[in-house]
Amino acid sequence: MPSVYIKTYGCQMNERDSEQVAYMFVSSGYSLARNEDEADVVLMNTCAVREKAELKALGKMGMLASRRDAPGHVVYGIMGCMAQNRREELFREIPRLDLVVGTQKYHRVFELADTLLQRRLHSAESVNKGQHLSETAEEKDAQNAIRNHLPRPAQASAFVSIMQGCGMNCSYCIVPATRGAERSRPAAEILDEVRRLAAQGVREVTLLGQIVNLYGKGEPLVGGRTAFVRLLEALNDIEGIARLRFTSPHPIGFGRDLVDAYRRLPKLCSHIHFPVQSGSDRILKLMRRPYRNEKYLRICDQLREARPDLAITTDIIVGFPGETDEDYLETKRLVERVQFDNAFIFQYSPRKDTPAAVMPGQIPPRLKAARNHDLLQTVNAIAVSKNARLVGTVQEVLVEGPSKGNAKKLSGRTPQNKTVILEGPPDLAGQIVPVRIAESTGFTLYGSPSKGR
Ligand code: SAH
Ligand code: SF4
Ligand code: F3S
Repeated sequence: MPSVYIKTYGCQMNERDSEQVAYMFVSSGYSLARNEDEADVVLMNTCAVREKAELKALGKMGMLASRRDAPGHVVYGIMGCMAQNRREELFREIPRLDLVVGTQKYHRVFELADTLLQRRLHSAESVNKGQHLSETAEEKDAQNAIRNHLPRPAQASAFVSIMQGCGMNCSYCIVPATRGAERSRPAAEILDEVRRLAAQGVREVTLLGQIVNLYGKGEPLVGGRTAFVRLLEALNDIEGIARLRFTSPHPIGFGRDLVDAYRRLPKLCSHIHFPVQSGSDRILKLMRRPYRNEKYLRICDQLREARPDLAITTDIIVGFPGETDEDYLETKRLVERVQFDNAFIFQYSPRKDTPAAVMPGQIPPRLKAARNHDLLQTVNAIAVSKNARLVGTVQEVLVEGPSKGNAKKLSGRTPQNKTVILEGPPDLAGQIVPVRIAESTGFTLYGSPSKGR
């Protein structure tokens, strides 16, 4: 039985796409290799959002493809956003590379890789007679191909891609170039997929999209509700599913109907990852983000009114071209004002062919790093004090399985998306259990199942 190993970089969307690719290999008789050394096909699903992400994947693939001790028949492929972005150029960087597959061709990976492998195994064909294969064209309805899940025992949680691509043009961002135009899947197919997951025992689904609340944009409102809110309503009715999440929403198109969903839909979890990017309106404008801080803050306030225990997390870019000390301080003040439960802070990374890469006032790396470090301290202090307040409370924890750090313990998440490590028998995996929080080390909570409240 041939085997495949897939290494995934980047966002949840990439994780989900990798699962679809893995599904296609497994349903055609491949096994999943535990590591690259045992695999006949080695694939890397890549990210291009920052330079670091690209360098990491390039370095790793370069190293793997030049291993002397690997069998000659092994097929090497790069897929995902860096594949889409760099295309054939990758064959020059990594001569032993066989395959480059873009973000609208995930459903082709199995066939391409398997064809190469079979040829090599059965016709004594030697490697690299200039037989690189690359597929990076756009394909209509490719978003509908991301719909199968690997069966996993006691799986608690699953990602569901409800759309692909992005129709915005944030001046720093490569994603519209790597993922193409915004395209939504039909609601009926999404509902079917989630019903199948529920039938397998999955309790939580996270809907994925670059601007997930623009799902079904262009469809008329029904009773004042967008296609996205109507999808949430329909998902809320699926028996077996206990928790709904989505990522990432954007202030654009974030209407009262979505705020009200937090009042009406009990399965919607009390957490939202809501990227703000900057606390300075001047920088937001240069970023071509079509909202101002006042609007972002207003939505946060409305959400907290609708759901008082809502945890809010965010993405922030520091060191965007032209960012002054005062702009940076505005971001810091915003963090203090919103009291984020957590924030991912990124140092601006110039991406080729994006407008910000050639804007005046590029910030020196040391200043970016200093702002990153300073902001992280503010973010962490808030996160730590919020978690400390949970000690002594009882939280509903969806148990995901053994903890990565200590296989004798279990790991799960609260509705606010906080990780909890708990004691308990392994068969709690996939269940929602009340847990009394005994301790917080800052970012992780610890506790044990609680009988009384
Ligand atoms: N669609 C999402 C973001 C997807 S990219 C949204 O608009 O909210 C994930 C995060 O990467 C972004 O929120 C942004 O903070 C960061 N990012 C994107 N391009 C970047 C760049 N060139 N340099 C640094 N960070 C970047
Ligand atoms: Fe990138 Fe902006 Fe689209 Fe998000 S909304 S993916 S940051 S272009
Ligand atoms: Fe990276 Fe592509 Fe996701 S660039 S962040 S993997 S959409």
